[in-house]
Amino acid sequence: MNKSPAAAADMLMGWMESLADATRLRLLRLLERHELGVVELCDVLQLPQSTVSRHLKLLADRRWVRHRRVGTNHLYRTILDELDAGARKLWLLAREQTESWPAVKQDRLRLERLLASKQDDAQAFFAGAAGQWDRLRDELYGRAFGDAAAIALLPADYVVADLGCGTGPLAARIAPFVARVIGVDNSAAMLKAARKRIGDHAENVDLRKGDLAAVPIDDAACDAAILMLALTYVPEPAAVLREMRRILKIHRRAVIVDLLPHDREDFRREMGQTRNGFDPTELRQLLAGAGFARIDIAPLPPEPAAKGPALFLATATRAAG
Ligand SMILES: C[S@@+](CC[C@H](N)C(=O)[O-])C[C@H]1O[C@@H](n2cnc3c(N)ncnc32)[C@H](O)[C@@H]1O
Repeated sequence: MNKSPAAAADMLMGWMESLADATRLRLLRLLERHELGVVELCDVLQLPQSTVSRHLKLLADRRWVRHRRVGTNHLYRTILDELDAGARKLWLLAREQTESWPAVKQDRLRLERLLASKQDDAQAFFAGAAGQWDRLRDELYGRAFGDAAAIALLPADYVVADLGCGTGPLAARIAPFVARVIGVDNSAAMLKAARKRIGDHAENVDLRKGDLAAVPIDDAACDAAILMLALTYVPEPAAVLREMRRILKIHRRAVIVDLLPHDREDFRREMGQTRNGFDPTELRQLLAGAGFARIDIAPLPPEPAAKGPALFLATATRAAG
C-alpha cells in the first residue's frame, strides 16, 4: 500500500534520525555481519551496557535490528533483506561512508578477537569432553538423528531394492530421499502392513509380491539393494545373492544386515528362520561366488536394550561382467 506523502516523510525522518549517531552506525555495522548479545557488543564498542542497551532499543523500535531471546541473553541482528527498501538504501550509503572510520576499524579488530575467543571456548570444551563425548551425545540427542542424516546422504536419483521388505520400515524411511524404492516380499500379510504404513505419501514406493529366489525386478534396474533380516529365512542364500547381483547395476552396492552365528535354537524356531545366523567367512564366500567384489563384513555393536542375537553389516559391490 502506498503511504501518504506526510507518512513517507515521517518515515524518512525517522530513519535519518536513527542513523544520525556514531554509536548506532557502529552497532549496525557489527550486527549486519554477526548476531551478538549486549555484553559482547559492550566489549567490542567499549561502551557501558546502559549506553549500548539504549541505542539497541531505539534501533529495535525503528526495526533496524531484530532480536531473540536465548536463555537469559538477548541476541541482536540486522538483516539487510528485511529492511524497508528506503531504509536499506540509506543504510548502504551510511555503511559506505563509515568504512574508513578509525572506530569502525577498531571495532572490527575487537570483534575478530571476540569471535576467536568463542572458538577457543568450543575447543576447550571438546579438549575436555573428548573422552565422554559419545555418551554425552547419546544422552543429549539420542541416536536416531545419526541414522536420519546418513539416510539423507543417499543419491536422489537412486532406485533401491528392499528385498524381504516386510512391513516396510526401511522403504518408508528412505523413500523421501531417493527416486524409487521397490519392496519385494512373499508374504501377503507383510505387504499389506507395508502398504498401510507407506500409505498415500510415498508414490515412489513400489511393493511387489515375489520370492527372493526369483526377484520380480529387471536385470540391472537398481542402484542399491538391501536384505535386512531376510537372508536367515531363505532355504538357499546363494540363489538369493545371485538375484541380488542380477538386479544391481555394475559397481553398485548390496547391503545385508542379519544375524551373526548363535546357539539359541529356541529363538530360531520361534522366529521361523532356516538357520542360526551367518558366519562371516561363509557369507564372504557366498558373496564372492555370486559375483560380488569389495566385500566387507563387520559386527554391529549391540544396542543395550536389544534382546536378539548380535547382528552384522555386510556390504559388497556388483563386479563387472
Ligand atoms: C524378519 S522380516 C524383515 C523385514 C524387514 N526387512 C525388516 O527389516 O523389518 C523377513 C521378511 O522376509 C520375508 N521373506 C522371507 N523369506 C522370503 C522369500 N523366500 N521371499 C520373499 N520374502 C521372504 C518375510 O516375509 C518377511 O517379511
